[in-house]
Formats: sequence, structure tokens, C-alpha cells
Amino acid sequence: MDKLDPAVMRLKARREDGEFISLRPKSFAEFAGQTEVIGNLKMMVEAAKLRSEPLEHLLFSGPPGLGKTTLAHLIAGEMGAQLTATSGPLMERPGDLVAILSSLPRGQVLFIDEIHRLPRAVEETLYSAMEDFKVDIVTGTGPGARTITLTLEQFTLLGATTRSGLLSAPLRDRFGALFQMEFYQPDELAVIIGRAAPQLELAIDAAAMLHLAEHSRGTPRIALRLLRRIRDYAQVNQAELVTREICAAALRQLGIGPQGLDKMDRMILETVIDRFGGGPVGLDTLAAVFHEERDVLAEVHEPYLLKLGFLMKTPRGRVATGRAYEYCGLPSPPVSGTQDAPLFED
Ligand SMILES: Nc1ncnc2c1ncn2[C@@H]1O[C@H](COP(=O)(O)OP(=O)(O)OP(=O)(O)O)[C@@H](O)[C@H]1O
Ligand SMILES: [Mg+2]
Repeated sequence: MDKLDPAVMRLKARREDGEFISLRPKSFAEFAGQTEVIGNLKMMVEAAKLRSEPLEHLLFSGPPGLGKTTLAHLIAGEMGAQLTATSGPLMERPGDLVAILSSLPRGQVLFIDEIHRLPRAVEETLYSAMEDFKVDIVTGTGPGARTITLTLEQFTLLGATTRSGLLSAPLRDRFGALFQMEFYQPDELAVIIGRAAPQLELAIDAAAMLHLAEHSRGTPRIALRLLRRIRDYAQVNQAELVTREICAAALRQLGIGPQGLDKMDRMILETVIDRFGGGPVGLDTLAAVFHEERDVLAEVHEPYLLKLGFLMKTPRGRVATGRAYEYCGLPSPPVSGTQDAPLFED
């Protein structure tokens, strides 16, 4: 564990601060939103169970906090399987992967989080494991080296990634299905908040729940985190019931602005507009300006700003759109060619 890249550890810790495992849904029925993903998953799980076969390998991609890890645990539960969890950067050498794979009983679920961060050699070992349930192990070195093929029990690989664009095509192709998690609608988040509030022993009315849902950046993790902060606010201010007004006051105090943008989101927009004339500006340049890690900008902040249509990706960098100017209370930008440039995946 201590070998994990410290930058990745920090990133993960910042995303998941103080999460309540008990708030995690334990069945498909308890999982709100992502209706298309859930519909397909239910069908695949049921079909695999009818055939008494392990489930095919599945990949979940999408921004942090949308429920990828939660779904992996849930699927293992529904399949009646145990889940072994690991993470891309934890597996430094092919041997690390082989050690895990060779100990999996038939039908077991292996969850690899941050799968886009698997080192190349480990990823290549995974190919034959996924396809043929076999791995080649090389023993010895030089002329005396021998390759032994190890046959594995059939297992299900569940992969999660916040950066599907960074995944290699051969790895992607070996999954039976790819599920792209979408940001949640406010009414779906309100359901999640409504289920969590009693567990936190918090009285909150429907209008307040919807208000919070609208300020949670389409993300259950953020909704649940803000709900806990609102509970603190209510307690300190001796509010017995959280109303829309109390919720709004708490969010203001937390620095959450319209559409749920936080201080950092707003600073990103303002910097692109003020300092870089609306862009294009590269992510590395922005990261340097904020003394922030590039991945935090790319994984935590940017996806929602893109989804709101405040930022656009172009081959030369990020560009602020007219909507971003409007949000910041500034007159619309002069029209420039870069605004129509094609989307750029990195
Ligand atoms: N549909 C949902 N219904 C209820 N709670 C949810 C749902 N999706 C996510 N959550 C809650 O949100 C939190 C974050 O979910 P999870 O850890 O599964 O996200 P993730 O996609 O794995 O994020 P990361 O990319 O950072 O690993 C958890 O506390 C989980 O219980
Ligand atoms: Mg996760």
C-alpha cells in the first residue's frame, strides 16, 4: 500500500473525504438514477445467473463520485460473489496482478479502480487473463528463462476509470460492456438525499432537498458531503428542520454558488477569461497558475464545467464560452475561430 503514488493517494483522499460506507446502496433497487446503466446491468446479471456463468468483464467510466465503486460492490452482491478490490497504481509489476488472479476462486469479482493507471506490462498480462483466463509467467533469466502458462478460474473483472480517454484500445476491447456514468438529474439526487437524511438523523423538507440537489454538481458524493455540512450548520444554528432558506444560507456560507460551482470552479472560469482572454489555455498552464495538480483540474473540476457548457476543449486548450462570461457577469466575448474548433480528447 505504501508504494502507491502519493499524488494519486492525495487525489483519492480528497475525493472521498469522510464518506459514509453505510450510505452506499446495497441493491439495484436502492440505487437511484443511471436508469439506462442499471437496466442493462440487471439484464446481464440475470442472464449470467440463469446460465450459471460468471458475469462478463465490465468497464465503468465517468467523473468522480457518480457511483462506480458502489456499483461494483452492488454487482458482486447481486451475483452472490466476493469482491477483491485493487487499484491500477497499486500493481507495479505483472507479478502483483498474477498473485491476485491466481488466488481468485471461480466466479469471483476483481475490481480494479483507476484502471487507466495500470502500468503497461501489467496491462498486457491482464489481456490474456481477461480473454482466455490464462497468464504466462516467465521464470529465470537469459538462456535459462522459461515461460509457464498458468490457468486461472473464470472471474469477472470490473474496471473503473475517471479518464476513459486514457484507456488503451486493446484493454477497452476486452470488456463485454462499457458503461458511461452520467451526471445525475436534480430529482434523482433529491431521492438520494431523501434516503440519506434519516440515516444522518436530519429533518429536511422537500424544497430544501431539491435546492441542495440543484447545487450538487450532478454528483451523489457532493450531495452527501454537502448534506453533512448542512447538518452541521443546522445543529450550530439550532434549526430543527432544514428549510429551503436554511439550506440556501448554509450553501452560501460554504461558498457554493449558482449551479453548485465552488470557489475553485469560479476561479478557473475567471482566470481563463481575465488572464487568458477567454482561452485557449492549456490544462498544464492552469494547473501551474493554481499550484494544483493537473489531474485534479481534469478529473474533478473540468467535467462539470464542460457539461454546463462553460468550457470547451479545443486542440489548443480550454476556451471559455459565452455562458461562462454570462455566469461571471461579463459581456460576451468577441467571436473567434477557436470557439468552433473540434473537441479534443486527452
Ligand atoms: N446512485 C446512487 N444512489 C445513492 N448513493 C450513491 C449513488 N451513487 C453514488 N452514491 C454515493 O456517492 C458516494 C460516491 O460513490 P462512489 O464511491 O461509488 O463513486 P465513484 O464513481 O467510485 O468515485 P471515484 O471515481 O472517486 O472512485 C458514495 O458514498 C455512494 O454511496
Ligand atoms: Mg470509486
